[in-house]
Amino acid sequence: MPIFISHGPAETESLGETWGQAAQRGWVIAMSGELGAGKTQLVKGVARGLGITARVHSPTFTLVNEYDGGRWRLFHLDLYRLETRAQMLSAGLEEFLQPDGVAVIEWAEKLEHGGWKLEPGKVKKVKVELIGETERRIIYDDFGA
Ligand SMILES: Nc1ncnc2c1ncn2[C@@H]1O[C@H](COP(=O)(O)OP(=O)(O)O)[C@@H](O)[C@H]1O
Ligand SMILES: [Mg+2]
Repeated sequence: MPIFISHGPAETESLGETWGQAAQRGWVIAMSGELGAGKTQLVKGVARGLGITARVHSPTFTLVNEYDGGRWRLFHLDLYRLETRAQMLSAGLEEFLQPDGVAVIEWAEKLEHGGWKLEPGKVKKVKVELIGETERRIIYDDFGA
């Protein structure tokens, strides 16, 4: 898997932007990594790469934020507050695992707690690791970008 070392938020966003530029309908970008790692920063880049101009902020009280106006609709999910499969199902998660557009999921490691297997192909796994105040190690499936 490719590894990218980022030295600041702008570099992280630029990496996400390349993914947004390459994204195809049905892609699910499954992100894991601790709080403050830079997952949302990557999503900002994905949005920009799709041509979305709206400001991206994490969904906090809802499961998903949707953004139109780009090449594909972007669904931005954050599973931080969900623990069980039942909670995920009642929040309506399943629809976004085969999105009519591109889905980016923060705290995707929780999907496995819920019993979902992330199959390679349309699901792209991303892991963001904090290695310093402004340094991050981003390990990701090949996006064909
Ligand atoms: N190289 C970097 N990449 C991404 N974010 C960084 C980096 N260096 C510092 N930061 C800061 O870390 C924080 C990452 O926040 P965020 O993207 O919301 O994380 P997460 O969604 O993983 O909780 C932001 O405040 C950002 O400015
Ligand atoms: Mg976040």
